[in-house]
Formats: sequence, C-alpha cells, structure tokens
Amino acid sequence: MKEIINLHTRHTTCQMGVTEDGFLLQLYYGARVRGKMDYLLTYHDRGFSGVPFCRGTDRTFSPDVLPQVYPCRGSGDFRTTALSVEDENGVSGCDLRYRACRRLPGKYSLEGLPAVYADPSEAETVEIDLADDRLGLRVTLRFGILYDLDVITRSVCLTNTSDRPLTLTRAASLCLDLPESDYDLIHLPGRYGFERVPERSPLTQGRILYESRRGHSGHAQNPFAILAGRHTTETAGCCYGLMFVYSGNFAIEAEKDPLAQTRLLMGIQPEAFAWTLMPGDAFETPEAVTAMTGDGLGALSHIFHDLVRGHICRGPWRDMPRPVLINNWEATYFDFNGKKILDIARQAADLGIEMMVLDDGWFGCRQSDMSSLGDWYVNEEKLGGSLKDLADQVHGLGMKFGLWIEPEMISEDSDLYRAHPDWAFKIPGKDPVRSRFQLALDFSREEIVDAVFEQIAAVIEGAGVDYVKIDANRSLSDIYTAAEGRQNAGAVSHRYILGVYRFLSKLLDRFPGLLMEGCCGGGGRFDAGMLYYTPQIWCSDNTDAVERLFIQYGTSFAYPVSAVGAHVSIVPSHQTGRVTPFNTRALTAMAGSFGYELDPACLSEEEKNEVRRQITCFKTLWPLIHRGIYDRLTAPSGDVAAWSFVSRDQSEALLCAVVRTVHFNVPVTLIHLRGLDPEADYKVEETGQLIGGDALMQGGWPLPMATEDYQAFSWHLVRV
Ligand code: DGJ
Repeated sequence: MKEIINLHTRHTTCQMGVTEDGFLLQLYYGARVRGKMDYLLTYHDRGFSGVPFCRGTDRTFSPDVLPQVYPCRGSGDFRTTALSVEDENGVSGCDLRYRACRRLPGKYSLEGLPAVYADPSEAETVEIDLADDRLGLRVTLRFGILYDLDVITRSVCLTNTSDRPLTLTRAASLCLDLPESDYDLIHLPGRYGFERVPERSPLTQGRILYESRRGHSGHAQNPFAILAGRHTTETAGCCYGLMFVYSGNFAIEAEKDPLAQTRLLMGIQPEAFAWTLMPGDAFETPEAVTAMTGDGLGALSHIFHDLVRGHICRGPWRDMPRPVLINNWEATYFDFNGKKILDIARQAADLGIEMMVLDDGWFGCRQSDMSSLGDWYVNEEKLGGSLKDLADQVHGLGMKFGLWIEPEMISEDSDLYRAHPDWAFKIPGKDPVRSRFQLALDFSREEIVDAVFEQIAAVIEGAGVDYVKIDANRSLSDIYTAAEGRQNAGAVSHRYILGVYRFLSKLLDRFPGLLMEGCCGGGGRFDAGMLYYTPQIWCSDNTDAVERLFIQYGTSFAYPVSAVGAHVSIVPSHQTGRVTPFNTRALTAMAGSFGYELDPACLSEEEKNEVRRQITCFKTLWPLIHRGIYDRLTAPSGDVAAWSFVSRDQSEALLCAVVRTVHFNVPVTLIHLRGLDPEADYKVEETGQLIGGDALMQGGWPLPMATEDYQAFSWHLVRV
C-alpha cells in the first residue's frame, strides 16, 4: 500500500489503504488494532470480476471483490455501489482515484443539514479527496472521529470540476465493506401506531433494502440499523450501528456478495433521485454515523444514546428537565373551546403538571381535519378570546403554554390555498393524491418556507408560546415544483427536507428558548435529523401502555429516553380498547419525556392523588431517567418487560418491570441488573433490603407474583 489511513477511536479502528495506482480500499473496521491490516487482502483470479485496465495482465485485482471505501458504478464493481454519476449523454463510467488526505482539528459541520457536533477537543476530521479527471468529478470523503464515544461520522462532498453538467443518480453517505458475512441485520420496521419494533434476520446472498420513499423517514422503516454477529446478545458480541442524520427518503442496503463478504450502504434513497451539478457546483450528502463495539447491543445503544443526547440534540432544553405536560388531543380532539382548555389547565396545574399544550384545531376554521392548514391565525371565536388571553391565563396558573402546528401542510379549504394554489405539491393537469384530506406545501421553495414561518412566528411571539409540537400528517406525493430549473422528484424531495430544516433553524434562531417536539402522525419522523432541532419527538399516536412497551423498547436501540415523547392516557385505550393499571401507564410513560394526554375531569380523587405522586416521583428521578444509562433487561415479547436506569456514578438505579400476562403458580422470574457497582451494596428503598451490586447482577432480582395482567413494578436502589 502506498498509504495507510487510520481512524482510531478509543476502542475501535477503521483503516483504509491506498494502492500504488490510487485505489482506496477498506482494510478493516473493528476493535482497535495497532498495525497495518493490508495482509487481510488476498488476491485471486475471480472469473467474471472486472480488472482495472491499468493492472495489465494481473487478473487478481478486482474492485468487484476487494473491499472499497466509496465504490462507484462503472469501475468493475458489480455490487451495489455508493456512487453513480452520469455525464450529459447519460453515460455512467466512473474511475475514482486517490488524490490527498488531510487531518483537521475538530468535527466538520454541514451547511443547511443537521450533523453531529463536538467540542474541538473531542473530535477530529479526516478528509480524503478522490477524483475522476476524465469525468471532472472530485469526491471528498469526510470522516468525523469522536474518540471517546467510539463514533465515526461520514459525509461526502461531490464537486463538478468539469465544464459540462454531471448528474448524480446515487450518492450514498456511507459504504462499509466487511470481509465476512456471518451477521444478522437488525432494523426497526413498523407502521402507523406501532413504530420501530425490531426485527433480526441473517444476511443471505443478495441485497436487502430498508427504505423510505415517503418524503419523510416514515413509520414503516427507521434510518437506523445494526449489523450484529450471529451470536451477539444484549451483553456480549460484536455489532456495528448505522444511523442516518436525515429525515427524508433514505435507503439502507446490505449486500452479501458471492464471496460471502458484506457491504452496507446508507444514504438518500436513490430511486428517482437525480441531482444535476452544473460546472463548479457541489453536493453534500447528509451525514451517516457508525459505531462499533464488541460488548453487545446494550453497549451499542449506550453509544448512540450518548451521541444523540450530547452531540445531536442542542439548545437550552438539551440538558434541562423537560416540563411535565398535558396535551388535550386525546381529551378533546377537535371539540374544545378556550374555556375547556383553561379548565383542563386549571385541574392539571392543581395536580402539579407544568405545561398545557393546545393541540390541533386552534386556527383558521379548523373543526375537523378537512380544513384550514396553512391559515395560521387564531380562531378567536372558537377560543372565546385571543390566544394571548388563553396563554396569559395558563401562565397565570404557573404553567408553560405549548401549541401544535403543522407548518408543511395545506388544506384545499384554506385561505392560503385559495390565494396560492401553486404552493401545494401538485402535478399540472393531474388531480393530486389526498391524504388525511390535505396536501403538502412545496417546502423546496424558500419563499413558501419564509411565508409560513412569518405567520407562525407571529403567533408564537404574540401569545408568548413556550413550546411547539411540530406535526406532519401525510407522506409526500405529486412532487412537482413550480420553481425554476430542472427538478426531478428525488431532488425536490431532498430540497423539501432542506426546507424543513431551514424552517426549524429559523424558529430556533428567532426563539432560542422555545422547546420543540417533533411529530409526524406520532413517530413517522423519529430520526437523528429531527433531533438536531427538536430534542424530543412524539413517539407514537398509540398511547396504550402495553403497545408502548414494544414501541419504546424498539426505539431504545437507537434513541435515548429523553427523546421519546410519552404520555399517560385514559382507559380503555382509545387505540386498542385495552384496560391497563394506572401505575403501568405512568411507569411506561416515565421512560420518556413524560406527560399526560387526558381530561383530568375523568380522573377519580384517588387517581388524582396518584398523578401527584407520579409527578413527584418523575421529577425526583428525572436526572437518573434522562441522564442515566438505560438498559433493556428483557424483551417485551416475553411475559415480562423489564428495563433499568443506572446513574453514571452507579450510586442509584431504577428497575422497572411490567408483567404482560399473569399466570397461576409460575416459576419465579429473576431479573439480572446491569451496570451496578459490584463492590457496593444497594438499599432497595421499597423493601429496605440491602443487597450487593454483584448479587443483583449475577443472582438477579426475583420478581413478585403478579396478581393481574399488565401489572407494573418498580424499585429504587440506592448505594449505601
Ligand atoms: C397527529 C399527532 O400524532 C397527534 O398527536 C395529534 O397532534 C394529531 N396529529 C392532530 O391532528
């Protein structure tokens, strides 16, 4: 090798090598190693695998079988490539060769896109330039190394250095070639109301694709995946995590090639994507993140939790206790007036709830989901006064005031649509596809983003709003922009997401103290891109506690509990009709950004006292829950769902368990704790017992016999 490029973190090494003729190969990614790993490459004549012309009679060097860092179509690599470029005649032959490598202090940032950030002392950037001189294309691979966190981020900048247009038809953010394939792929599929429930399946020869083509990251798949050794468990074994810091169409591809090697790709979904670079133009891909550990899935989740919490979420609310909120959606849906909202707020304040959130229906003529999106002026008739009056009265109760908005959408029955029908995504001459009876605004156009922003900013400013829930209740279709220039649906979809980010940035710039909660019909845009702007996201429209056990369990593989909007609702559940104990609903919601979504008038006096107790408990335990280390102790698919939080100094822990199904005369379930101090004793506050940390981890904690289905238990352990 002419050059070896090492990206070391505390426990991992990613190593690349440059051949004499300038091919950039992936030599290794795994537990930290000292030396050169090029000995791992073996060269054989592989029939039907192309060989670069410059290799002359050597038939043993083929991009089709050698591990690549950024493989491109047309290079002789017949696997799924990271890059595909077409010249103005649609010809797509590309031959990238190494040019230079730079090490820069600090972590790079991306213009207009969310990205991991770090203190200059915590991170380093490595940039590798590749080029195809014939085509006139420069490719700069950027790597951000967060040493202590064992995280490597990636983004790619593609520049047209030629004098003619070039079109990118595929530009992945990350490619990772690994020499073996004895892996399982874990991903987070789901559906509306049942998001991110993990599935694990072995790689088999061929290509697996997990993707969104909906314009948002979506309910059906999540831009996160894990490649795990076949025997990797929560507590042991090798695994690689991939997270996309992006909220639009994405593709995660895993390919096991004929020689049993693995290729992983993550990037903007390439179907229908085409981005034309005029001479001198550059395109920056969104950021992808990798982490690797040999210590199992739990350890991998801890890395991503710390990354999201400390290096993706931003602003004053990143580290502050989030207000315990009450949201009126399940309490009233659209059927409310100002008096009703104030009534909910008054009762909630009496229970210790800290913020009243007014959900959908406060604007335009909105009495159902059939109208008014885009008309972001207050329906004073419905509220019986101004929004400021209402907000003032809520503030007067000692509560914060929050508001629901859906900035990206437009109703055909709205003043905005009547004035600007061309602002909605619609294809000329074709009737648009409706979804929830609404259309999406063309947020690829800055003037539209700006106009909606000004309307909404005036409302926030005018009423003194402390929090916004930013919803988006349909997928994108009929993607056509009236903006000038050649635009295809894939490019417009990307520009749309850039517009969403622009809108969110403007909100944060104008209102730096505003707490924002993401939402997309529940958890349809629960991704690291959104978390860069909104430190919490409404996890699901499904508030049934038992279903939430599954949803929050799956979400926890990638995202920290501080990011998970979770509320206690009434029973029977509006979604499932299931009746669960009050304590179960509260304990489940406490594994998140905690709140209530009910009319307090429906609660008995006993339940109201229970709410007061729950809030005191959550506020006392908040540092442990939101800042501690979260572990999945059992999977909810069994009879018992158990999880724990352990403080970073191991001085306390909270063990939570829900018994899904009660049985007669069952064997005792022992829950094995994790992360405690093995040398210390812990006092179980609820029972007064003193037990060693080593005992609780090795011997386990015997779960009491449940007396009803869905019964919840929790124990607070304090080191003595
Ligand atoms: C979908 C959200 O997920 C709900 O919580 C609620 O805000 C509705 N939209 C309002 O239309």
